[in-house]
Amino acid sequence: MSDYWQFYLPTRIIAGPGTLQDLPEHILASEHRRVFLITDRVLRQNGIVDKVVSVLKGVEMAGIFDEVTPDSEVALVEKAARLAGETGADYLLAVGGGSCIDTAKAVNLVLSRGGNLRDYEGFGQINTPLGPMAAIPTTAGTGSEVTQYALILDKQNHYKITFLSPYLAPALAILDPELTISMPPGLTAATGMDALGHAVESFVSTSTGPLARGLATEACELIFRNLPRAVAAGDDLAARLAMLLASNLAGIAFSNALVGCAHALAHALGALREVPHGVAVGLMLPHSIRFNSRQEPDPYRELTCRLFGSTAGGEMLADMITRLLQECNLPYRLSQLGLAEDDLPAVAGSASVDGAMYTNPRLADAEDLLVILQSAY
Ligand SMILES: [Fe+2]
Repeated sequence: MSDYWQFYLPTRIIAGPGTLQDLPEHILASEHRRVFLITDRVLRQNGIVDKVVSVLKGVEMAGIFDEVTPDSEVALVEKAARLAGETGADYLLAVGGGSCIDTAKAVNLVLSRGGNLRDYEGFGQINTPLGPMAAIPTTAGTGSEVTQYALILDKQNHYKITFLSPYLAPALAILDPELTISMPPGLTAATGMDALGHAVESFVSTSTGPLARGLATEACELIFRNLPRAVAAGDDLAARLAMLLASNLAGIAFSNALVGCAHALAHALGALREVPHGVAVGLMLPHSIRFNSRQEPDPYRELTCRLFGSTAGGEMLADMITRLLQECNLPYRLSQLGLAEDDLPAVAGSASVDGAMYTNPRLADAEDLLVILQSAY
């Protein structure tokens, strides 16, 4: 941990079964009332959107945009922002997984500031508050309901544009496990491993701090105890709430402390071979941990001490995560994803220039990353 650290959380978080009912009270308290809801077609069809709309008593529905895709792109964000503007909406509500919430954050940016989305790429471009926004996650992994990031696909140039500002974080996040029980086992497992990646990587990041470490530890504990339960029995409300909390705490942690090489590799696997983010993070995590732990001091010793009462460090943590992957029926070798070994150098090259590498606890170049990928093949 460095001598300098900072921490910021602008989001009110409400968690528990049935807390969806609290939503209208908070929207009305913001003195805004024309709500534009951003979601995807699956949630529109499976009744989750109807359930949300049904609690919005006293609130005007300006419109519903249900065209969000798993990798939301610039043109889609600008279309949603145009429609929201035409309806006179003054409050954005995201209902869905990370892509829906990131889309709504980007829509909020265009709606509040005007211009083209691309004008705001990167860090330091958004320096005053945006319009009010609430996020209701229906998956438990990205933590997007509390992060300062939005990632939007640039389809022409094959990369995800990162938007980073404290003002992108939603004003309100509602974590109601009743909205995640319809998530299928495979998605539950993959999104849960994404949350574990945020927690583990933010704990050892070069920009971590005491608050991020505390939140990351709690998130890891919740995930090891509850992810297999949530995968095996989707209607286990206690396990679902625990996973939503874990995702949220890990999201707050990494929004402040950033991530490391498992995420850099996952971003490259997603961009070049369309491997789903949570699947890629889970698969790369044990191998990234082993690489990072081969230095003195082992950066994972403190975490295994807190989690398992052992100073065994990275090797132990990597073994525990591989066991968790197997228990959740997730792939744990790259060869299981149909990747060719010839694909690996390009993945390593792309990961080596990923922003997540800046805060990895051990320096790694493209050659090192190729060794990590080969160990995972
Ligand atoms: Fe992630």
